[in-house]
Amino acid sequence: MTSRVFSRVLAVMDNGAFPKAQKWMWRSIYNLLSRSWRDPDWRFMNYGYVAGGDTFSLKPEDEPERAFIGLYHQAVAGLPVAGARVLEVGSGRGGGSRYIARYHGPASVTGLDYSPATVRLARRLNTGTPALAFQVGDAEHLPFADDAFDIVVNIESSHCYGDVEAFAREVGRVTAPGGWFTFADMRGRGSLGDLDRQLAASGMELIDSRDISAHVVAALDAAESRKQARIKRSWFMRRFMREFSGSKGSMLYKGLSEGQVAYVARRYRKAG
Ligand SMILES: C[S@@+](CC[C@H](N)C(=O)[O-])C[C@H]1O[C@@H](n2cnc3c(N)ncnc32)[C@H](O)[C@@H]1O
Repeated sequence: MTSRVFSRVLAVMDNGAFPKAQKWMWRSIYNLLSRSWRDPDWRFMNYGYVAGGDTFSLKPEDEPERAFIGLYHQAVAGLPVAGARVLEVGSGRGGGSRYIARYHGPASVTGLDYSPATVRLARRLNTGTPALAFQVGDAEHLPFADDAFDIVVNIESSHCYGDVEAFAREVGRVTAPGGWFTFADMRGRGSLGDLDRQLAASGMELIDSRDISAHVVAALDAAESRKQARIKRSWFMRRFMREFSGSKGSMLYKGLSEGQVAYVARRYRKAG
């Protein structure tokens, strides 16, 4: 029952009518999840990306998370990450920042997240990873100097923000001339024009624009049994977890596979 009410509240808040409340609600949800769901083998909170024939190599211990890492692999593939100062905004449990730090040779990776409990968990789950640090902060007010980063990564986080345009302006400010902004997230298909207008506030040039929904649905399929096993072990809010994880039968799975929801990837470059 509690979970049903919770899912309804989520649906109402998520329609964009109450941006400040929406932002507060998402932070509360991630704080709650990070306090109650601390499995050491879950470093990701994204829906994943699976592309047939895309065989990037991973160490054996990372194979179980291939579908979720795939979203980060597609985000940074071909970008000049080696030696770069990388910022991930909305780094969650830190698996994506950790992947970039371990596989792509950056000078540094800073993971920033609005949820203090999630940042604490990210530090614990990714301890000992060279060149990687996590801190608390708000995407709409980035706590960094102008031009501080060469690459800004943002994966499946922007739908939580109260003001995506403010976030985009901040990305444009903290990215060094010649630097990159790589973005992936989902929206109702009818809101994609708004999203692109909001992201344009970065002042950066749009270099690449893709609809990756089919690859995300393939990842949801690939991760289904692992998610079901996790949901079975949940001691509370099972229905919410089913929806939240995008398992088969969830509103998200239906929306993405039938086309009402689109998952898109964008790449921007700052002049310089
Ligand atoms: C769906 S999770 C994705 C986490 C990670 N990117 C991944 O792929 O595993 C969204 C994350 O965005 C964070 N977030 C939401 N609003 C934020 C904000 N205003 N500033 C920074 N982080 C935020 C949440 O706390 C959460 O950890």
